Amino acid sequence: MAETYNSFHRRSLQDREGFWREQAALIDWERPFERVLDYDRPPFARWFVGGRTNLCHNAVDRHLQARAAQAALIYISTETGVEHTYTYAELHREVNRCAAMLQALGVGKGDRVLIYMPMVPEAIFAMLATVRLGAIHSVVFGGFAAQSLAARIDDAQPQVIVTADAGMRMGKVIPYRPLLEEALRAATHPPRHMLILDRGLDKSSARVAGRDIDYAELRAAHMNAQVPVVWLESNEPSYILYTSGTTGKPKGVQRDTGGHAVSMVASMKHIYCGEPGETYFATSDIGWVVGHSYIVYAPLLRGMASVVYEGVPIRPDPGVWWKIVQDHKVSVMFSAPTAIRVLKKHDQSYLRRYDLGSLKHLFLAGEPLDEPTARWIADALQRPVIDHYWQTETGWSILAAYPGVEKTPIKFGSPSFPAYGYDVRLLHEGTGEEVADNEKGVVAIVPPLPPGCLTTVWGQDDRFVQTYFTSFPGKQVYSTFDWGIRDAEGYYYILGRTDDVINVAGHRLGTREIEEAVCSHPNIAEVAVVGVADKLKGQVPFAFAVVKDASHLNSDAAHAVLEREVLDVVDKHLGAIGRPAHVFFVNMLPKTRSGKVLRRSIQALAEGRDPGDMTTLDDPAGIEQIRAAIDALNAPR
Ligand code: PRX
Repeated sequence: MAETYNSFHRRSLQDREGFWREQAALIDWERPFERVLDYDRPPFARWFVGGRTNLCHNAVDRHLQARAAQAALIYISTETGVEHTYTYAELHREVNRCAAMLQALGVGKGDRVLIYMPMVPEAIFAMLATVRLGAIHSVVFGGFAAQSLAARIDDAQPQVIVTADAGMRMGKVIPYRPLLEEALRAATHPPRHMLILDRGLDKSSARVAGRDIDYAELRAAHMNAQVPVVWLESNEPSYILYTSGTTGKPKGVQRDTGGHAVSMVASMKHIYCGEPGETYFATSDIGWVVGHSYIVYAPLLRGMASVVYEGVPIRPDPGVWWKIVQDHKVSVMFSAPTAIRVLKKHDQSYLRRYDLGSLKHLFLAGEPLDEPTARWIADALQRPVIDHYWQTETGWSILAAYPGVEKTPIKFGSPSFPAYGYDVRLLHEGTGEEVADNEKGVVAIVPPLPPGCLTTVWGQDDRFVQTYFTSFPGKQVYSTFDWGIRDAEGYYYILGRTDDVINVAGHRLGTREIEEAVCSHPNIAEVAVVGVADKLKGQVPFAFAVVKDASHLNSDAAHAVLEREVLDVVDKHLGAIGRPAHVFFVNMLPKTRSGKVLRRSIQALAEGRDPGDMTTLDDPAGIEQIRAAIDALNAPR
């Protein structure tokens, strides 16, 4: 009889070692591991200790025998009109060339390679080439601006930056070079070389001799390169990916090698039901964790073809993704609720016009999936729509459904059950005690974290422990910083963050990062940024700023000028993704007597809710100003 998901999950916790030894057989090991798990130094978990493997070998070389002529990457850009399919043999050749190029620029084992690229195949060649060499990639989302990039350069201290002349969005060229130059000027540890892919999009930027290397030229010198893989001990790092938290300084989530590989391929089997030879389509970007896990690693480790898409869901028309599903026989798709809400503004017939017979499931993650959106897309596709919940830190699902193990019924609004390997608990915020069914608690994981989760914060072991494992008194458990609730049937529901992280169109942003950017304007004394519910994007940032000199702020036009200036500094620091939807100018912020800004009250007012207990307020004028600003925004014009 087939195993139920319940017993599968139970086994993963009761016989951790046996369970993960079984999963580890899904990848190749150059040298077998001696121990499945070393948990001698909690909360640091070391998986598959002593085993040697390589991500690039498992994602590319390993498939050459059985599937050299099969598609590996299906590149489609609706921005430039370029479409090209790379077979596994071609991917192998390109990755070898790129590895030789990086080697020529001095990259070796343990070095960092920062990849700041649009959605082009070369970005993926660079990721795979980096791990082939035993080096560590740090991909930075192409939408991040100079200051964010500089902070990541200084933290990772890369040997090389791989980049392109420009990205493209909605038909508009976004030159990367000016931004990179600014980031390099701001960085204290700029790398010696930049490897630049010239897409022919931006002709205006000059190269710096000696520092800037043309991708095509260097590639031409390494056409027949064969670069042996560098075998790594399972716990050696494969990549760093920066993510936002409570502080303004992003954390470098560090992933290992063996645990990461095993978790990826196991998730493809048990959760997504992606089979070797099938096509997977994740609509994310390689700059985010979904892109790392489900555009690059999991599909390739499993021997699937992965669609690499540059473009938006509604150009040239809202049927574009579904045409891709039809033309490339996509079997599993992964997207975000925001994208579906964008499609929902258009007619369902755009989806119905294509033959979606190959599609088994649509998975959605990254932000809460509201029920109307889930129903709309399930109805349009006539396929199971599976909500699943996870984080950059975990790299793969914390909560999901597992059709590869058992087809459990889906409840709209719920990402179903804890993933195998995760001991998920809902804990009371103050006491750390478990809450009862239907009671709100913080989603927590009793360590050890399963394979594939972050192993530490890059260069900051103490920050890893301090940030994630000290939320509850007397207990060393991992906090997700999300609120959750579980019903009597064991289904979980996610209710939003417990910290100052907001989620804009599925993109995770720290309000502190936006506040720091706003404060860099010379006329801003202080600011509070909160996430406000938005029908389309889930949340959008609102900024309430105290100006230093308000003497010129005496007209709507003067307000508009200052607001524009503030938005510009945010664009420059963080990029347009961090841009507040509104900037309000106030004389003071609501604070407690001890000086803490009451962000939750500001957020409540902005969402039209009761701001709660105001007795700790230092000066009631603070909250009245927020109320007046929101009333003015909502007043009919
Ligand atoms: O708040 C949760 C929300 O997104 C956060 C993680 O974002 P990120 O690190 O960008 O990783 C995204 C990986 C898919 C979580 O802490 N989140 C993610 N998935 C869901 C979600 N909220 C509700 N439902 C989800 N399915």
